[in-house]
Amino acid sequence: MRRLITLTVALAIALSLLTGAASAADLVCDAERVLYPISPELFGIFLEDINCAVDGGLYAELLKNRSFEWEAILNGQRADHYTAWRLQSGEGSIELAQDNPLHPNNPTCLRLRPNGGSATASNQGFGGNALRGGIALTEGAVYDVSLWLCGPGFTGEVTVQLTDMGGRPLSGALSFTPGAQWTRFQGQLTAEKAGGAVLAVTASGTGQVDLDLVSLMPRDRVGASWPGGGVRRDLFEALRALEPAFLRFPGGCVVEGSYVRANAYNWKDTVGPLEARRERGNTWGGMQTGGVGFYEYFCLAEELGALPLPVVHAGLLCQAREVRESPLTLEETAAYAQDILDLIEFARGGTDTVWGGLRAEMGHPEPFDLRWVAIGNENWGAAYFSRYHVLSEAVKAVWPDITCIVSAGPVAEGALPRDSWAAIRRSHADSLVDEHYYMDSGWFLEHTDRYDRYPRTVPVFLGEYAAHEPVAGSRRPNNLRAALCEAAYMTGLERNGDLVQLSCYAPLLAREGEIDWTPDLIFFNDTSVLLTPSYYVQQLFSLYHGDQLIESSCEGLYHSVTRTADSLQLKLVNPTEEAVPLSLSLLNVPDGSLSGWQLSGGMKDTNSFAAPDKVKPLPVEAALREGAAKLILPAASLTVLAIRLTP
Ligand code: AHR
Repeated sequence: MRRLITLTVALAIALSLLTGAASAADLVCDAERVLYPISPELFGIFLEDINCAVDGGLYAELLKNRSFEWEAILNGQRADHYTAWRLQSGEGSIELAQDNPLHPNNPTCLRLRPNGGSATASNQGFGGNALRGGIALTEGAVYDVSLWLCGPGFTGEVTVQLTDMGGRPLSGALSFTPGAQWTRFQGQLTAEKAGGAVLAVTASGTGQVDLDLVSLMPRDRVGASWPGGGVRRDLFEALRALEPAFLRFPGGCVVEGSYVRANAYNWKDTVGPLEARRERGNTWGGMQTGGVGFYEYFCLAEELGALPLPVVHAGLLCQAREVRESPLTLEETAAYAQDILDLIEFARGGTDTVWGGLRAEMGHPEPFDLRWVAIGNENWGAAYFSRYHVLSEAVKAVWPDITCIVSAGPVAEGALPRDSWAAIRRSHADSLVDEHYYMDSGWFLEHTDRYDRYPRTVPVFLGEYAAHEPVAGSRRPNNLRAALCEAAYMTGLERNGDLVQLSCYAPLLAREGEIDWTPDLIFFNDTSVLLTPSYYVQQLFSLYHGDQLIESSCEGLYHSVTRTADSLQLKLVNPTEEAVPLSLSLLNVPDGSLSGWQLSGGMKDTNSFAAPDKVKPLPVEAALREGAAKLILPAASLTVLAIRLTP
């Protein structure tokens, strides 16, 4: 049945694309004809620190390389310990030092020797390049500043001030007197003007003073009480508006580490006091501060109303990249299993356990609602499955109610996923299977029936996907066509919501000027957030998520019909160049108003910082009388409607 509906739709649409004319469509359904329940967690999000998504993005920290740990892990590019800092030694000198670590995990600091005069180090933040210049201050906004200082024998003071790129003050100044031990100082600065700024730290006096972990965050942020300091409010709001059911984190390839084990993600380096967190080279370039570490991640998920879905590596480096170190041996893998158990204990253990105790100390005595652990990101082959076996068995032995997520590899079709699925069905049928694929937009239209054919035995997590348009310039555009192809595909996910438990688009965030990968769901710069057509598609599916699938028929349209206890939801995708007149026949639905949103425009339309609202959902409404309603689905459109089933 499921397959028949999809084929009819695909044929009708293919025909209309060929003839260039879309014919009228009739959608018929009965609100009482429930086929089966749909996963309540079908639509979530995936946060990976790619495109400066976290450090330089969601993380509220405005300074780049705040701890002087920036170094060349990846092939020596874009990296040294002075990254983003400008030094003006004045009468004295400035140098990096590693003989007075703030913490063993944070070995490098900056030593200022003003030599009776002054020495200044200023940080330009993530916008600190020729393109934009400096940290974008908002006039009147308050910024929280903190820094660690250690000045045995130092006589004088250290001042901190926001200035423009030429050194002219943009705020008042804070003054601190360092002591002989490392001490954290803090204060607030108010921006007197908007503009590109640097944070200038000046030591004046005699002797030497060491500086480390310098931080600048807008006071207006979310999670200011989290040890890491919190996240940017506007990006947080954009994520919250998606109402995600879950939050996958931290990768993606950043989990596995590329080339060498040293930059595989180690969750334990990201918890505890900030100064004790070990920064780590990021697979996508740059450094990860760990400021949005595993504690902040769990808090963020909770704040978003999403369930956490952490990913850990499986003892193998990223298989898609050149591998310079061999996987963990099976013995090492068995030992590494303890790290995963400790992570679960950190999330769920009692406050009298080691890791549950740390969670409580960090501010969250109550357990987090952890139900899944993904072991591996994009892995395949015997080396993976043998390690997955060791790791997942270890988890199940201690936490039988945690579902382990197994990777089916990084592609949609061919021998690799076939072999992976065969291995999974043979030995890991109690897992949730993580599929990843980035395909041409047209592929998504042609494969809305992909899951109709899957046996219903082993559930699926579509952990990464996006429709890819041809590259234009250096990027794949986030245009309406791609978004509609995703929408059509998502009707297939809903129709298979008994099998597909979870899904999330990738990547989520991208900082203008720091793009590693396109397309992305949300773009941003220092001051603005840019939502893409794909964002609106994800949002509409999430907000109009039903919990049961309703039997329906409609030739010539990609569609799904779902319901909750008190409302019926329709999703209608017209990915053609012609408007489609639609007649609705809805049985067992009272008279009332069908209301919702319509996303439409030109197939190639995109949003930009200059025109952010070019493609944006607009409200739509139609009256339903005796089960009948008529409406026009514009060319290139997604229409999402709901109607109350109860008075
Ligand atoms: O989403 C971008 C990347 O795509 C992820 O890091 C990786 O898992 C996949 O290859």
